Amino acid sequence: MTTTNRQLILKSRPKGLLAPGDLQLTESLLPELKDGQALAKVKYLSIDPTMRVWMVADTYLPIVPIGEVMRAIGFGEIIESRHPNYKKGDRITGLTGLQDYVIIDASAKQFFQKLPKIPFVSDTVFLGALGTNGLTAFFGMEIAAPRKGETLVVSAAAGATGSIAGQIGKIQGCRVVGIAGTDEKCTWLTKDLGFDAAINYKQSDWKEKLAAATSNGIDINFENVGGDIMHTVLDRMNLFGRVVVCGFISGYTKEDPNMVSLGTVIVKRLRIQGFLILDYASRFMEAATQLGKWKMFGKLKDRETIVEGLEKAPDAINMLFTGGNIGKLIVKV
Ligand SMILES: NC(=O)c1ccc[n+]([C@@H]2O[C@H](COP(=O)([O-])OP(=O)(O)OC[C@H]3O[C@@H](n4cnc5c(N)ncnc54)[C@H](OP(=O)(O)O)[C@@H]3O)[C@@H](O)[C@H]2O)c1
Repeated sequence: MTTTNRQLILKSRPKGLLAPGDLQLTESLLPELKDGQALAKVKYLSIDPTMRVWMVADTYLPIVPIGEVMRAIGFGEIIESRHPNYKKGDRITGLTGLQDYVIIDASAKQFFQKLPKIPFVSDTVFLGALGTNGLTAFFGMEIAAPRKGETLVVSAAAGATGSIAGQIGKIQGCRVVGIAGTDEKCTWLTKDLGFDAAINYKQSDWKEKLAAATSNGIDINFENVGGDIMHTVLDRMNLFGRVVVCGFISGYTKEDPNMVSLGTVIVKRLRIQGFLILDYASRFMEAATQLGKWKMFGKLKDRETIVEGLEKAPDAINMLFTGGNIGKLIVKV
C-alpha cells in the first residue's frame, strides 16, 4: 500500500510573524517500513511559541535546517510496527514534526514516550495541561516557592502555561493576578479559574488597574511575556521578590527584544531564575501525577483552542503572537 505524507517544510526563516511560504506544504510517498521502525499517524500537534525560536536561532535545541520538516511536538498512534518497543495501537507523544505521519526508528536519536489511555481524559490533554505546558507551570511554580498569602502575577495568563501556573498559585494559597489581552480572557480567568483579578493589558489604563489589584506589591512574577509588561510588573515587586522567567514571547518576533532593566533588579533585590522544562525530564511522571489529581478533583481546569488541518499550522503559529488562542493551542491534523 502506498501512503502519502503531507509535511510542512521550513523554506525560509521568518522575520516578524510567519509569512506565506516560510513553511511550505509538500507531499511525498512514505517509504516501506524497515526492521526496527514503527509508523505513527500524527493526530494532534502542539503549537508552541518556541517553534518560532527554533526557526531562527540555535538555542537549547539546534536551529531547524532550511528544507527540513518543521519541528513540533505531536500526539499520534502507531499504525504499523517493526520496532521492538511499539505495537499497533500504542499512543505516543514526542517530536513528530509538522506532518501526517512520523517514522520512529530504533537507531535514531528520537524522543518519544508511550502514553496510557485514561478513561474520560482526552488525547489532547497530553499536549497541554498534562503535557509540556502543565509540567512547565508545575516546575516554574516550584521554583517560585510561594508562601500562603503572597501575591503572584502571571503574564500571558490565559495561555496554556499561564492559566495552569496561576491555578497552581491559587492551590498554594496565593493571591493571583493574571495579565491577558482581551476582556473575554480576563473573565475566564476570574470567573472560571478563580484568579483574584485579571488585567487586560490592551486597555490604556491597565497599569493603574494592575497597581490597584496589587496594592500590597507583588511577591512573585511568573513571566511569560517580557518587554513592557515585565518592566511594569517588576516596578511593583516587593523587596526580595522572586521572578520566574518562563518565556518572553513579546521578543520572539523582534530583532531587538526590550529586556528588563537591571537597575530595578538591584534596587528591588530581586531573585530572577530562568528555567527550561527539559531539565526536569526525570520528574515528569511525578508532576503529571500531581497535575492529573488536581484535574480529576476539579482544582485545575483547562481549555483548548483547536485549529483543524495540518495546512493551517502556519496560521496557528501566528495566532500565538496575536493572542488568538485561549488556553492550549492545538492543530488537529
Ligand atoms: N521555559 C520553558 O521550558 C517553557 C516551556 C513552555 C513554554 N514556555 C514559554 O511560556 C510562554 C507561554 O507559552 P504557551 O505555550 O503557554 O503559549 P500561550 O500562552 O498559550 O500563547 C501565547 C500567548 O501569549 C500572549 N502574547 C503573545 N504576544 C504577546 C505580547 N507581545 N505581549 C503580551 N502578550 C502576548 C497571547 O495572549 P494575549 O491575548 O494575552 O496577548 C498568546 O495567547 C512563552 O513565552 C513560552 O515560550 C517556556
